[in-house]
Amino acid sequence: MLTLGTYTREFEAAFAAAHAAPDAEVPHSVAVSSGTAALEIVLRAIDVSGKDVIIPTNTFFATAEAAVRAGGRPVFADVDAQTFALSPATLEAALTPNTAAAVLVHVGGLISPAAEELRKVCEQHQITLVEDAAHAHGSSVDGKPAGSFGAAAAFSFYPTKVVTSGEGGMILTSSADLADDARVYRDQGKGSFTANHHVRHGYAWRMSELHAVTGLVHLRRMRESIEHRRSVAARYDKGLADLAGLDALAEPAGCLSNFYKYIALLPPGVDRARFKRELADGYAVRLAGEVYDLPLHRQPVFAEYAGPALPVADDICERHICLPVHSDMREDEVDEVLGAVRAVYGALAAV
Ligand SMILES: Cc1ncc(COP(=O)(O)O)c(C=O)c1O
Repeated sequence: MLTLGTYTREFEAAFAAAHAAPDAEVPHSVAVSSGTAALEIVLRAIDVSGKDVIIPTNTFFATAEAAVRAGGRPVFADVDAQTFALSPATLEAALTPNTAAAVLVHVGGLISPAAEELRKVCEQHQITLVEDAAHAHGSSVDGKPAGSFGAAAAFSFYPTKVVTSGEGGMILTSSADLADDARVYRDQGKGSFTANHHVRHGYAWRMSELHAVTGLVHLRRMRESIEHRRSVAARYDKGLADLAGLDALAEPAGCLSNFYKYIALLPPGVDRARFKRELADGYAVRLAGEVYDLPLHRQPVFAEYAGPALPVADDICERHICLPVHSDMREDEVDEVLGAVRAVYGALAAV
């Protein structure tokens, strides 16, 4: 009763209902032990073994590691500076004759307005589009929610995420077959829950009932949390608008971000480490972690997969900052951050 039970099924149903696209059926949902597990299961289910998987270089380690563990070869791609995501051009530049899939990562909670076009490009090249929606609970483009663009999407419920279960992950997919396969993978590749009959190279990727009930309760607050995060972001937008050279990542028309991260770019030449240090030391304002500071093609563990230069990703990884956002943040706290950022930026940009 303590694993894959009633609460897991309730959490799966509620999460799927919260991510149903208008005029489409509610997606199938499979709760698992982490976002990393969700990604690996999806990549195993679509079978990337021995194939290339296109991955934007500015993502978390797990996006690429899941591909490696599923037997695939990550091919790192550059991104669009306006969205921090793959664009049709960067996706096409990374294609090889051996590409099986591409992973679109909704960095910071923003889904690229080109998501639908990316899906079409993938279809044209007969490759599978997978969404890494670890950051994007409740985000949408033109009313279409995270999870409805790819063949399947992987969400994370790690404690920093907009919805958390402590640890956990969820797969959403419109494919009943893929969902069935994912259920087999998550429980040691067993053909059925009650029999020791193994048909896949699965693993211990189950969600416990304690995690499921935690996620179920937190999910009830998702819309409220997102509304609050969006009001924080709007206040940051206003407060930064007149700071020349410090550019917040704009939310493109039709996009509704959950503002898992509030991202802004420092001008070239401003020392980010110093900027962060002065905010912390002088004002006790600690910025949130970047998404991401060292791109994957520069990570020692992925050295064998490093390919051609990826200049846009290198540039944005080096220059962006993430201002603090959380679902209980007060206006005076937002203003305190803004005051500190303005003071430190004013001094550093003048250097
Ligand atoms: C983009 C991205 N992908 C995948 C993951 C992996 O999720 P988890 O930590 O739940 O395994 C994370 C989590 O931090 C993430 O940020």
